[in-house]
Amino acid sequence: MRIVSGMQPSGRLHLGNYLGALANWKALQDDHECFFFVADWHALSTNYEETSHLRTYVRELLIDWLASGINPERATIFIQSHVPEHAVLHVLLSMITPISWLERNPTYKEQQDHIERCDLSTHGFLGYPVLQAADILLYKAEAVPVGKDQLPHLELTREIARRFNSLYAPVLVEPRALLTEFPKVTGTDGRKMSKSYGNAIHLSDTEPVVRHKLKTMVTDPARVRRHDPGNPEICPVFTFHKIYSNATVVDQINQECRTAKIGCIACKQFVADSIVAQLSPIWDARRSLEANPKRLDDVTQAGRARAARVVTHTLEEVRHAMKL
Ligand code: TRP
Ligand code: SF4
Repeated sequence: MRIVSGMQPSGRLHLGNYLGALANWKALQDDHECFFFVADWHALSTNYEETSHLRTYVRELLIDWLASGINPERATIFIQSHVPEHAVLHVLLSMITPISWLERNPTYKEQQDHIERCDLSTHGFLGYPVLQAADILLYKAEAVPVGKDQLPHLELTREIARRFNSLYAPVLVEPRALLTEFPKVTGTDGRKMSKSYGNAIHLSDTEPVVRHKLKTMVTDPARVRRHDPGNPEICPVFTFHKIYSNATVVDQINQECRTAKIGCIACKQFVADSIVAQLSPIWDARRSLEANPKRLDDVTQAGRARAARVVTHTLEEVRHAMKL
């Protein structure tokens, strides 16, 4: 299968992003032809006023990907703005996309209500899904690995492709969503791990930072004193154990928490050890990438060239179908 997916560069990735999207990408790259890109133009749709961090975020994201094992020998890795054909197809698709399709997009309404730091009544923000459709349709991708929140965008992509094909010629491929199933990752405060809640553990955190965040993490609130028995099922520390510790440790914690045999401090130390063990190789890889900035440029240059070959071909067909 040919697969395309993108991520916005909006800061450092955390464990939730890793388990949610990256782990899935890593598995897909072994068996499929994958195109993974940094959606820097999409980031502008909600951050067009303050762009001074954008370059750093793009690099940080690429470092997180490569350090996590996204392999440029298997997958094509590139930056959206390096492949201007995305903008060309966006313009052409925008001509055939009714505004009503975009206005009824749930993400559009929701984000307009929730994001207050900038005025989202822009053409670019309304057209966000058209750009995303162009990202996908240019590669004739059959599948797009995304989270649930992206399903409306995928549906719009299919509708736009259908409209194009029926107006002109059957050139574009309707992609399907590959829904990423992943464990629900809680943050250090027990809510869903999210950049905006400040409760995340980042791939780029150092070992002392990770240990500190775990040490101060909330536990079963009913377990006030050391000899109170706890309930691991409602404790966010235990959700980390289930993800990161081996089965023996998980069983042991499960029993010893309920009988107050183990204290929360020791329990958190165990989970810190498990997480540190898993992140260590990522930290090593991050360090060597940071020491070698040229490596990132080489990867994205090669990716841009590979992407260009595919999109040039699609755009030729599109122009021909539209009689341009
Ligand atoms: N909208 C996606 C998100 O916010 C990012 C994205 C842009 C994307 N273009 C894409 C995802 C194309 C999949 C395919 O997560
Ligand atoms: Fe949570 Fe572990 Fe404390 Fe039990 S012992 S409440 S699982 S931190």
